[in-house]
Amino acid sequence: MNTLMDIRQELQTLASSAPAIIAATTTTAELADAEAAITGKRSPIAMARRGLGKIDPEQRRDVGILIKQVADALQHDIDQRRNELTESEETAALAADAVDMTLPGRAPVVGTHHVIQQVIDEIVDIFVALGFTVARGPEIETSFYNFTALNIPDTHPSRLESDTMYVDFGDADEGVLLRTHTSPMQARYMEQHDPPVYVVVPGKVFRADPLDPTHSPVFHQVEGLAVDTNITFGDLKGTLEMFAKQFLGKDTEVKFIPHYFPFTEPSAEMHAFSNGRWLELLGCGMVNPAVFENVGYDPSAVTGFAFGMGVERMAMVRHGIQDLRHLLENDARVLRQFV
Ligand code: PHE
Repeated sequence: MNTLMDIRQELQTLASSAPAIIAATTTTAELADAEAAITGKRSPIAMARRGLGKIDPEQRRDVGILIKQVADALQHDIDQRRNELTESEETAALAADAVDMTLPGRAPVVGTHHVIQQVIDEIVDIFVALGFTVARGPEIETSFYNFTALNIPDTHPSRLESDTMYVDFGDADEGVLLRTHTSPMQARYMEQHDPPVYVVVPGKVFRADPLDPTHSPVFHQVEGLAVDTNITFGDLKGTLEMFAKQFLGKDTEVKFIPHYFPFTEPSAEMHAFSNGRWLELLGCGMVNPAVFENVGYDPSAVTGFAFGMGVERMAMVRHGIQDLRHLLENDARVLRQFV
């Protein structure tokens, strides 16, 4: 049981030790714990208040005043410390969340089209400006469209598995293969559209060639086909010469050298004089009437020309790239030069 002396003693001890405890707290949470110990239900102050009833009534008033003085003084210290800690905690939280609006932003890295796609777009744009439309076709073809419809005989060596990558070898027209050129789209497009036809077809093609500086088993071509009532070899020459001048420069000279393709007659290769030497640019010719028959066109009513060019080759000529493999390795140091 508390005596008067005990109560006074405890209050004095508390009054002298508590301020240091309050001052030593470093967070509002620590302070809340200290406050409970100093002024809470089980604190010496609460005990003292509870003990008042047992004190001689004459002393009660003085002790009551003493309790209140000690309690008020400590509460004042606690409230002051709470203000300090709250403020520094808010300051720290703001600092942790701070965004420096004056820092330079991080610009997103903008990608570009691969140089092969850029060259496809350049080629296609030149023909679109002349009124050609653009079509695309399947990369997996049948032997029929890749060969037969194009007047390529069953015995032609390009049908062999040593040249053509087959998905399913099959009989003459039933084979399924990776198209070896974009020319099958000549037949597909004419089957689907009545003349006149002015179309270019960019796309991937596949051949059983090992990768070397000038060959790749996968490459790209742009096919062209013009069919109308009076198309002549002069139209072919004029169109392709104009293309060469647009693509390689207006002083570019071209020449046409006789060649053979089963689906054009006559056929030619167009060569262009660029950077001091003659380069083979593309294959071309007047659409063979046999192809018109295969697709249901009347060969006595229409004539046309067709051409096909290798995109990687055009890219190499255009940009002076010596080795085709540079275009395929995805080395950013190479590709960044064509942004
Ligand atoms: N398809 C031929 C090739 O891949 C190119 C070509 C297309 C030739 C159209 C004439 C007409 O070599």
